[in-house]
Amino acid sequence: MNLKNAELKSRKDAATPRGVGVMCDFYAERAQNAELWDVEGRRFIDFAAGIAVCNTGHRHPKIVAAIRDQLDRFTHTAYQIVPYASYVELAEKLNERAPGDHPKKTAFFTTGAEAVENAIKIARAATGRPGVIAFTGGFHGRTLMGMALTGKVAPYKAGFGPFPSDVFHAPFPNPLHGVSTADSLKAIEFLFKADIDPKRVAAIIFEPVQGEGGFYPAPAEFVRALRKLCNEHGILLIADEVQTGFARTGKLFAMHHYDVVPDLMTVAKSLAGGMPLSGVIGRADVMDAAAPGGLGGTYAGNPLAVAAALAVLDIIDEEKLCERATILGDRVKAKLIALQNEAPQIADVRGPGGMVAVEFCKPGSTEPDAEFTKRVQTRALERGLLLLVCGVYSNVVRFLFPLTIEDTVFDEALAILEDVIKDSVAVAA
Ligand SMILES: Cc1ncc(COP(=O)(O)O)c(C=O)c1O
Repeated sequence: MNLKNAELKSRKDAATPRGVGVMCDFYAERAQNAELWDVEGRRFIDFAAGIAVCNTGHRHPKIVAAIRDQLDRFTHTAYQIVPYASYVELAEKLNERAPGDHPKKTAFFTTGAEAVENAIKIARAATGRPGVIAFTGGFHGRTLMGMALTGKVAPYKAGFGPFPSDVFHAPFPNPLHGVSTADSLKAIEFLFKADIDPKRVAAIIFEPVQGEGGFYPAPAEFVRALRKLCNEHGILLIADEVQTGFARTGKLFAMHHYDVVPDLMTVAKSLAGGMPLSGVIGRADVMDAAAPGGLGGTYAGNPLAVAAALAVLDIIDEEKLCERATILGDRVKAKLIALQNEAPQIADVRGPGGMVAVEFCKPGSTEPDAEFTKRVQTRALERGLLLLVCGVYSNVVRFLFPLTIEDTVFDEALAILEDVIKDSVAVAA
């Protein structure tokens, strides 16, 4: 039976809760690299990549082969019961490649939120302190601690409290919207005076480039200052690389852009190219703070996902995806900057490597223009290009194309993008 989109939508509305918000009104049938097809045979170019999961594209042949090979041997033993070599091998590879020359260890989990939860658990166990500082606009997941750390109320936190205590927010630097690095650091100083003694703070968690919050890169001087603060007060620095990881920013990890080494890093999303896998990578002494049995989970480090992740790391090297991210990101940026004269709503084009975004504001101002942004997204979708919006004001389009995208498909997408921005300007005029 050919299930049509409208039919599936009415079944979805009846069978699943609205809290699981769904952006598209079509249903996936199959996908290959940067393209996907719906159940009615319509083709889309996928610049969402499963929300930053498919940096290596949909169904990369090497990932499919690695999963198949594992499928033929075993699919699940629960690593904590019967371990397997591939888990250890992946941990070794990540330890070697994560920033810093010190000894490192890695534990695997399933989702990004779970990695964040565990990073906080590990930081608390290692320091014996409860407090955590996070940032406005930050996104760290939908579990209770993830929500507590997340710095955006609607839709992530509204109605879901109370949240775990001893979590504090400072403003993330955002020069476009009037928050300097000095403002952010001052706010942390105030937190230490007004809300929590720094000696009670276990960790500061931040995204090197805020993802959900609007693709705002953390300024280098800010990251350096965080490291210094952490050193002064015995606080652990956690870099949440769930969205920035695995070649997206032009380096394997975004922290490679900074001359700062975090104590812990959370990874997920593109780590396993579409399979659910996350991890916490960190200083060996800190990672060993939790007692045996304190970390893990039934599915944590699932063998199929680990096999996919080992293939992902090889593909990133073999296909030079870090370099490719920068080449593609530069092309998007050049296209958008060239459009700025015609589209005064383009207030900012930013982001390292391929982690590129465009922010739309009312012409001549920094007043966010969510309506214009929505129009660009809707028109792009009508033309078969899947774009994601982000930002506290929903006025940023983020580009998450697979880094393996074919040049012809990429060119096609950029042409659609140009057209829909021009169309949206005409409607706004
Ligand atoms: C920076 C960051 N941390 C954590 C998460 C949560 O990951 P997950 O949705 O896999 O739980 C996300 C998801 O978007 C993220 O971008």
